[in-house]
Amino acid sequence: MRPVEIRPDIFWVGVNDRSTELFEGLWPIHDIGVSYNSYLIRDEKTALVDLSKETFTEDFIEQVAELVDLNKIDYIIINHMEPDHTGVLQRIRKLVPNAVFVGMGKAIEMMKDFYGVTENVKVVKHEEMLSLGKFTLKFLFTPLLHWPETMMTYVGEEKLIFTCDGFGGFGSLNSSIFDDDYEDLSLYEGEMLRYYTNIVAAFNRNVVLALDKVAPYPIEVIAPSHGIIWRKNPQRPIELYKKWIAYGNGEADPGVTVLYGSMYRNTERAMDQVLEEFAKANVPVEVFNVSGVHPSYMLPSLWSKRGLIVACPTYERAMFPSMVHALDIAEIKKVKNKVAAYFGSYAWSGGAKAVFDGYAERLEWDAVGGLEFVGQSKENDIAQIRELVRAVAQKSS
Ligand SMILES: Cc1cc2nc3c(=O)[nH]c(=O)nc-3n(C[C@H](O)[C@H](O)[C@H](O)COP(=O)(O)O)c2cc1C
Ligand SMILES: [Fe+2]
Ligand SMILES: [Fe+2]
Repeated sequence: MRPVEIRPDIFWVGVNDRSTELFEGLWPIHDIGVSYNSYLIRDEKTALVDLSKETFTEDFIEQVAELVDLNKIDYIIINHMEPDHTGVLQRIRKLVPNAVFVGMGKAIEMMKDFYGVTENVKVVKHEEMLSLGKFTLKFLFTPLLHWPETMMTYVGEEKLIFTCDGFGGFGSLNSSIFDDDYEDLSLYEGEMLRYYTNIVAAFNRNVVLALDKVAPYPIEVIAPSHGIIWRKNPQRPIELYKKWIAYGNGEADPGVTVLYGSMYRNTERAMDQVLEEFAKANVPVEVFNVSGVHPSYMLPSLWSKRGLIVACPTYERAMFPSMVHALDIAEIKKVKNKVAAYFGSYAWSGGAKAVFDGYAERLEWDAVGGLEFVGQSKENDIAQIRELVRAVAQKSS
């Protein structure tokens, strides 16, 4: 996409990434892509806000060069040092040796560690201002969103805020960079939640602090570093974040996430026989096969729904490894405060339930119980599993 003017003299100069399989080498984006949004402000002084990923060096330089002679760039604002926004840094440094990199102290430290850059750098502090002429940038320190150096950049004259990863989402920008050009935003909002749970949720408390810092400033445009720019309804991403933060603090939507894994279908068949309990209790349910679905896609459901069923067999005296992987990710992302139960098949020793109990304890889940049954489930097993599922469903309605 070509540069897009988002306010007079403020431009989007981002790129769409439609070829990376795994964002951060971890989160699948092969089907949806992602954008790396950067911005150019043309004023008496010219500033770039955030850069791009190394793979897109040529695309990025082309975007910027369409608008200004690269030598004209005075400042490069580094809201966040993660290489999806700084990978082109060394190349830019060579092309524009006199531009000054601006960031929080930790960002400048990282610049040295990542790219060996120590000169022409400017450390700024929370609420420090930098005049470009008609625009003045104000830097808001919002640490751990999701790295320790992260900040946001506010342009008071336009009531516009560059939030970097905050309010970001997966998904390439298809046809427009603005919220008002999409009749249905459910795709981008869904991908924003996936991004939130995958990347940001572990720092839920810092997100609360960041929103507090942003709150005093009137905002008409939210311009993140991934995903769409909000200008028709700039309050929408803030509302969404408030809702998602609350999930991390014990709030939840009615509903249950069922994670299951099964080698020979003993556990799966037992699960199939009891899923009807959710319909009976009128509770929404989402079912994920841990062997086939990436945890990235489970996290939005895990984060937002009250209930959790873990259904998988014992494997080498412990839990089925694909389930361990899914629950490890859930633990890293602090999926707390669930009403949860376990069931699964075993053959000689059992052991999966004890692993489940460990997760339940560490993540402060209200564990309503668990059942290991031997081989194929019998009538009596199904009756007990049904009880467990009913208990979770009722507490999750
Ligand atoms: C590689 C492997 C390791 C296993 N390890 C154990 C074990 O340590 N203890 C146990 O009781 N059963 C163990 N089992 C048996 C399974 O838990 C049992 O076959 C169960 O019925 C499988 O459930 P599923 O049909 O849902 O996959 C193991 C099975 C496999 C294939
Ligand atoms: Fe990041
Ligand atoms: Fe990012």
